[in-house]
Parts: sequence; C-alpha cells; structure tokens
Amino acid sequence: MSSEEKTGTKRLAVVTGGNRGIGFEISRQLALNGITVILTSRDEKRGTDAVDLLHREHNLSNILLHQLDICDPVSVASLARFIQTRFGKLDILVNNAGASGLLVDAEGLRALKIDPLTWTSGKAVDIIKEVILHPYDEAVRCLDTNYYGCKRVTEALLPFLKHSTSGARIVNVSSLRSELKRMPNEELRKKLSDIDKLDENRLEELISTFLDDFKNGRLEAAGWPSMLPAYSVSKMVLNAYTRILAKRYPDMCINCVGPGFVNTELNWNTGVLTPEEGARGPVQLALLPLGGPTGCYFDETSLAEAW
Ligand SMILES: NC(=O)c1ccc[n+]([C@@H]2O[C@H](COP(=O)([O-])OP(=O)(O)OC[C@H]3O[C@@H](n4cnc5c(N)ncnc54)[C@H](OP(=O)(O)O)[C@@H]3O)[C@@H](O)[C@H]2O)c1
Repeated sequence: MSSEEKTGTKRLAVVTGGNRGIGFEISRQLALNGITVILTSRDEKRGTDAVDLLHREHNLSNILLHQLDICDPVSVASLARFIQTRFGKLDILVNNAGASGLLVDAEGLRALKIDPLTWTSGKAVDIIKEVILHPYDEAVRCLDTNYYGCKRVTEALLPFLKHSTSGARIVNVSSLRSELKRMPNEELRKKLSDIDKLDENRLEELISTFLDDFKNGRLEAAGWPSMLPAYSVSKMVLNAYTRILAKRYPDMCINCVGPGFVNTELNWNTGVLTPEEGARGPVQLALLPLGGPTGCYFDETSLAEAW
C-alpha cells in the first residue's frame, strides 16, 4: 500500500462495467487524471485483460481490478469489503454498467444502415422491428441492471463516499432515451418529474406497473415509450433516482449523463462517437470541482435544461 493510499490523500474511483466500451475509457481517462481507479468487471478474465492492456499499452499503474456483477448482492458486498479494508473511503462512483433489454440480429441491424439521426430521434421504431426482439426476460434483466444494479452498488458504497475528503461524486451513465419528452403518457411523465413526492418506493411501483403492462401486451395502450421500451424506462427511472440521491446528499455532486451515440457492443457497433468521445461527459462529472452542479442531467458535456 502506498503512503497516499494509507493517508487517503489520493482520490479513488470505482467504475462499473469497466472491461469494455465507455467504461473502459472512463477508467483510462480518470487514471490519466491521477485518480486511483478500481476497474470492475463481472467477468474476471475480461477484467484482467482490460487492466493488463491499461498497464501495458497505456502505462497506467494506478488501475486495479475487482470483480463486480452489479446484479449479484454477494459480489457487491465483496467489493464493499475490499474498499473498506484497503481504503476506508471512496471519492468517485461511476455507475456505467448497462444492458439493452433486447435480442438483436446484429448483422441484420447493421445491414439496415439506419442513419444516426433516425436512430437517436426514435423514428427507427418501425424499421427495426424485423431485427430486434423484446423478450420479457430481457426487459427484467435490463431493469435489474440499469436501475436496481445501480442502486445496489450505490447503497453499498455510500458509507465510503461519505468519508471522502475531496467531495464525493456519483455519475450515473444514462441515455438520450431517458428524456421524459419520449414518454407518451403525461401522467407518467409528471410522476417521474415530481421530485418532491418521488422516492425509491414510488419508482419501484412504477417499474412493477411497466413490467406488468409489458407482460400483458399493454405497453402502447398504457403510453410507455415504443422505441426500446425497457431500456428507455430504465434510464428514465435512473435519472429520477439520481435526483432523489442529489436531494438526499446535498454535499455530494450526483448527476446523470447521456454519453452520446457511441460505437460499442451495446448498440451492435452502430454508434458514431468513439468510446473516448463518449467517456468525456462522465469523466467531466466525475471530476467536478467543489460546489459543482448536482441533481442534473448532461447531454454529453452540456447541461441539459429540460429532461
Ligand atoms: N453506446 C451508446 O451509444 C450508449 C448510449 C447511451 C447510453 N449508453 C450507456 O453507456 C453505458 C456503457 O455502455 P457501452 O455503450 O459502453 O456498452 P458495452 O460496450 O456493451 O458495455 C457494457 C458494460 O456493462 C457491463 N455489464 C452489463 N451487465 C453487467 C452486470 N450485471 N454487472 C456488471 N457489469 C455489467 C458489461 O460487461 P460484460 O462485458 O461482462 O458484458 C460491459 O462492461 C451503459 O449504461 C449504456 O446504457 C451507451
């Protein structure tokens, strides 16, 4: 253990889903900024390969690996024990790991050559029907990863974030799909933006209603988003959770961010930004100065007014 680790002067970050895509880049850019990074990966081997690459080719020795499956409470508890024993505090948590809620014929999707504007505007909904399936089990997994997984990790690591002396930062990696204007049902939009009444119980009731409507083929009738429904709802709920946390912990900077349309496995490599570009927004929020914004949504590196 270095003397900085012992005295806790060096800032420490945890990045979930750090073995590839945007999470790998967030880990790299934070390490380049002198932060000690715990890169987490649900698969030990994929995580080791990622950390080896960062050590070897990027010459970054301030990155270490810990296994973390955000859907597995035992794995989350093991990470918390590791941080408690080795560092006793945490400065930055980047909740990046995410799941799409879909099964896709990747080649078929790429062959459609959907232009980025059609994709990000949501107008691709009819075009993609033949190459994308939305099984119920994948919807459940999507919510369990993108909302419950983030909550599980955050709750386990909050005790250490409270011990940060540099100002704790939580960054929830969200998506353009989280924007409430994409939710057709006005009542649901109101519920998700009513920060005075919102809490985790209300969010979880809403998730149950969504899954019930999903199972019973009522999504359209009930006014849920038609483009990537489970993914969209998971990120809308994640944004609301971000606001709840920011209100509860006013001394921390807790924000969510859409990284842009990034070329990663999550969108079967149809995105247009590089992972390096996609990581900029999350890294900016992880490194916010004291007194920086909290409870906000950023579209890449820009503060979004309405969301
Ligand atoms: N790419 C885009 O255009 C885009 C746009 C908007 C938002 N985002 C968001 O950006 C974040 C990163 O996505 P990406 O584009 O970099 O996708 P990606 O390349 O598919 O990476 C997703 C990462 O999440 C991990 N993961 C999934 N489930 C997990 C679990 N239960 N426990 C731990 N790790 C888990 C994956 O691990 P494995 O390698 O083990 O599968 C992988 O490391 C996600 O939250 C995504 O929703 C991406």
